[in-house]
Amino acid sequence: MRYAIAMMAVLAVGAVSGTALAADPIKIKFSHVVADATPKGKGALEFKRLVEERLRGKVVVEVYPNSQLFGDAKEMEALLLGDVQIIAPSLSKFDKFTKKLQVFDLPFLFDDINAIDRFQKGKKGQELLGSMKSKGYTGLAYWHNGMKQLSANKALRMPEDAKGLKFRIQSSNVLLAQFQALGANPQKMAFAEVYQALQTGTVDGQENTWSNIYSQKFHEAQKYITETNHGVIDYMVVANTKFWDGLPKDVKPTIEKAMADATVYANKLAEDINQQDKKRIMDSGKSEIITLKKDQAAAWRKAMTPVYKQFEPDIGKDLLDAALASNKAS
Ligand code: LMR
Repeated sequence: MRYAIAMMAVLAVGAVSGTALAADPIKIKFSHVVADATPKGKGALEFKRLVEERLRGKVVVEVYPNSQLFGDAKEMEALLLGDVQIIAPSLSKFDKFTKKLQVFDLPFLFDDINAIDRFQKGKKGQELLGSMKSKGYTGLAYWHNGMKQLSANKALRMPEDAKGLKFRIQSSNVLLAQFQALGANPQKMAFAEVYQALQTGTVDGQENTWSNIYSQKFHEAQKYITETNHGVIDYMVVANTKFWDGLPKDVKPTIEKAMADATVYANKLAEDINQQDKKRIMDSGKSEIITLKKDQAAAWRKAMTPVYKQFEPDIGKDLLDAALASNKAS
């Protein structure tokens, strides 16, 4: 009897752990800092949807938007520690790991999002995607947001108008130099802190895409937004290298395909979301949108582009030339 009970216990434990093993899905935590209704937010949710639909029960994706799990400063570290498996920081936030990605921050380098798309899909762009693998960041895709606009509590029509103002910037030395070239005072700050900094006057202005301005309500704390299109916010979706390389063969190709499909989906939506959010900001009447005249736009370009000289040695002339060439549709 004793023997029978012991045997039943052994069998029961075996059955439970057996089921537990079979039922334990691989968990992918995808953390980011923006809202769900932005290009990146929608891309992350689409990736989740596709993975879970195609690998039902085998893989789950948990998406954490709005710096809910980790903000800017922490998410890079969290990825290396394995606390999250995928993040998608803006390309401006990688300059600690590679100086080459600074090419994306150079003001007025790309004419529009189509030029950026061509560059990213070209040879140099693809090389950059793989350039941080040995440092623990495996580049999976580029995701678009859009072109940056300048907001402030003062009307910015000419570069001189920015003189002496404090601007929040992402953690990028190119962006630091860009605002210094205007005689302004740039301050590096995590995305999650920007709204309050604008509201309390810790900074006078910031630069961002229409979708980030609208979804974070920056326009409610800023009197003016100048449509400068002077730079870009795009993302690199990166996975922890060890995690990515260790994914089992029966799920990895499907996850890769889901990422490729989510990329097409998000990149197609990005421009529309930004234009829609620009209209929402206009309709809200909270912030005046300033459209630059031709000579005013030229003055901003002239004031900002001298920073190229400072960063070209680190970025490399080959990359700069390839980026410039992408402005011409092939
Ligand atoms: C910012 O910090 O302004 C942006 O990089 C946020 C984002 O991820 O779009």
